[in-house]
Amino acid sequence: MLKEYCRNQVALIDRTLDELLPPAYPPVIFEAMRYSLFAGGKRLRPILLMAAADAAGGDGRRYLHVAGGLEMIHTYSLIHDDLPAMDNDDYRRGKLTNHKVFGDGMAILAGDGLLTAAFEAMLSQPGVDPAVLVAVVREVAAAAGAVGMVGGQAVDLQAAGREIDGDTLRYMHKAKTGALFRAAIRSGALLASASAHQLAGLTEYAEQFGLAFQITDDILDVTGDEAKIGKPVGSDAKNCKSTYVSLYSLPTARQMAAEAVATALAALEGFGPEAAVLREFVNYLLTRES
Ligand code: IPE
Ligand code: IPE
Ligand code: MG
Ligand code: MG
Ligand code: MG
Repeated sequence: MLKEYCRNQVALIDRTLDELLPPAYPPVIFEAMRYSLFAGGKRLRPILLMAAADAAGGDGRRYLHVAGGLEMIHTYSLIHDDLPAMDNDDYRRGKLTNHKVFGDGMAILAGDGLLTAAFEAMLSQPGVDPAVLVAVVREVAAAAGAVGMVGGQAVDLQAAGREIDGDTLRYMHKAKTGALFRAAIRSGALLASASAHQLAGLTEYAEQFGLAFQITDDILDVTGDEAKIGKPVGSDAKNCKSTYVSLYSLPTARQMAAEAVATALAALEGFGPEAAVLREFVNYLLTRES
């Protein structure tokens, strides 16, 4: 059921992204941006935004521009994450990384272009009270920046080749990966006028989802199948990165992911069948292969 649901949501998201970022002049930068945007990502952040709006009693399909903007920010973060100055990886989403095809300079610009296009896209969202939209975009901006994803990536870079403690690792995961998931889910809730109680439950769910997601990403970097994850296995070891697996061991990392999933499910206890997709989603993290 989750597969079918995701297929339908991905079709909506892909069509929106194509409309929001059509090919234009100068061709090279639009080719580079669209190359990574349409390389076959799972679209988890936009799907979760829409599922959170549904869980709060709204209709997630009304917020596709905000959802598309989040996917642009995420894609930019991957392009930069793969650069030689960062993780130096050659494959992403089953294709050569952006810099391998377009060169480092153009890949940096493709990331810049996607990040800025994201704000244009989100602010073009029709049918939303402007005050709510401003609050949502502000929250996404914070999550993407130095108190969120960029801050987490900075700690990730600094931590390479060093011993770090559990608190630093937790911060790093919360910031580099958790912040965007949190913003996605809270955005869906805020756009759908969630109550304070619903927002609190969905926020807790989002934080645990983000943690479980990055722990399982660390696990897949060790145990994954390259053909399925679409990116190199062993990237973290190559770069001497601190991960849940390197700091705690594979079985402990698995257990910690399971605990985060259980806490996420508990956060949804006050919700009814409208949160069924969110429940299935977080359970899928424990068995995901990509
Ligand atoms: C990968 O994210 C980067 C991390 C935050 C761990 P995804 O696994 O969601 O990547 P795509 O979008 O499906 O390629
Ligand atoms: C990066 O984490 C998360 C981002 C903010 C892009 P990783 O470096 O582990 O992501 P992958 O494994 O390359 O997708
Ligand atoms: Mg990285
Ligand atoms: Mg990486
Ligand atoms: Mg990884």
